[in-house]
Amino acid sequence: MSNPALFPADFLWGAATSAYQIEGAPLADGAGPSVWHEFAHTPGRVHANETGDVACDHYHRYREDIGLMRELGLNAYRFSVSWSRVLPEGRGRLNPRGLGFYERLVDALLEHGIQPMLTLYHWDLPAALDRLGGWLNPDSADWFADYARILFRALDDRVKLWVTLNEPWVVVDGGYLRGVLAPGQRNLHAAPIAAHHLLRAHAAAVQAYRAEGRHRIGLVVNLEPKYPAQETAEDLSATLRADAYINRYYLDPVFLGGYPPELAEIFGPAWPRFPDADFDFIRQPLDFLGVNYYSRQVVRHAPGVWPLETAGVRQDRQTHTALDWEVYPQGLTDILEWVASRYGPLPLYITENGAAFYDPPQADGGVDDPLRQRYLRDHLRAALAAMRGGVDLRGYFAWSLLDNFEWAHGYSKRFGLIHVDYASQRRTIKASGRFYAEAIRTRGITLGEDGNGG
Ligand code: FCB
Repeated sequence: MSNPALFPADFLWGAATSAYQIEGAPLADGAGPSVWHEFAHTPGRVHANETGDVACDHYHRYREDIGLMRELGLNAYRFSVSWSRVLPEGRGRLNPRGLGFYERLVDALLEHGIQPMLTLYHWDLPAALDRLGGWLNPDSADWFADYARILFRALDDRVKLWVTLNEPWVVVDGGYLRGVLAPGQRNLHAAPIAAHHLLRAHAAAVQAYRAEGRHRIGLVVNLEPKYPAQETAEDLSATLRADAYINRYYLDPVFLGGYPPELAEIFGPAWPRFPDADFDFIRQPLDFLGVNYYSRQVVRHAPGVWPLETAGVRQDRQTHTALDWEVYPQGLTDILEWVASRYGPLPLYITENGAAFYDPPQADGGVDDPLRQRYLRDHLRAALAAMRGGVDLRGYFAWSLLDNFEWAHGYSKRFGLIHVDYASQRRTIKASGRFYAEAIRTRGITLGEDGNGG
């Protein structure tokens, strides 16, 4: 009898987190501050002036959290390393106690049969480096490669999946263009420079890995398919601009050796001329690509809207999350197929996918979250559809393992498969977490395929 399972036996079933969002204790054991520590401590920057000082206290509770991963049946876990725990000033002096935390974490994961995927940079640049210009400083690529090398030497014997950067687009758009994320700059001229140095930093780390590492390294980008509101010339070219800005900005240089032409139009006089040699360097071969997918955008031409002259058209009939992101599972299939056809048949992971909803605990202490459960089911089905269409998808990481510090939204938006009561630090697996565990256990059979399952 043929095996009825829908996903392959070696598929990675994971959940993702990042250091600043869950760890807490940002200055413990000799760690230096990061830009996120400083940003969150600047009044008015984060919802209700919340900070990552305690977060999920994962720094102290990681063993309990790994126990929960086991309970969900995860065979993979994606986390990030806080650069300034390892190098308090971002470069130079090593802090062995900071590095020791990640060694213990990795060992504990492996003891439980959970494969670590380690992200070197999930937005928490050491504050000391920001004072030297951060990603605007051309030396940032070397700083990053030096830091990466320390991690490769310490952990490549145990970590087989490495990620250089998480979502460089968000770092630049939120941190250097719009000023809504750390380090809080709002500067059209700064943004393309920061983007370019992030790409150089990514490449420098990949190059260092080829010399030091023996496993696999890739990049994680957030992608958001763009669809024209109307088939007019104006909306179609607005859609191309929006697509270039988010989807092709980082992948074109990494895989095709140059920036999309629309960027010069978007940035106008702020678009620099970059050295040709940089593009050969940025195009380092990768072992895989990680795609973070949350939503799509329907785009219209919007004169005067800085800087893209585009706007999203809200699809009022569709379900929206607590962040007002449209739930659109088909977009996941579309974007995975687009990546495979534009950039070639490389191994892909869905490195983040999830939803914030309002789902308070019930009187009996349980957390019923039907909208998140449906989101998960429909996106896993969409992933499967992409695989059937020929996409080489190797794993899925739900965002997030735990409710956590959602950047400028503080603790007000909950993405977890596991509810966290921040006052007591009590964790409760939500119904969506149980649903995910069943999908993992049955390799997808409980997802149903007829549109009526779940
Ligand atoms: C992504 C981030 C992640 C989390 C989710 C909701 O852009 O990588 O840290 O904030 O969005």
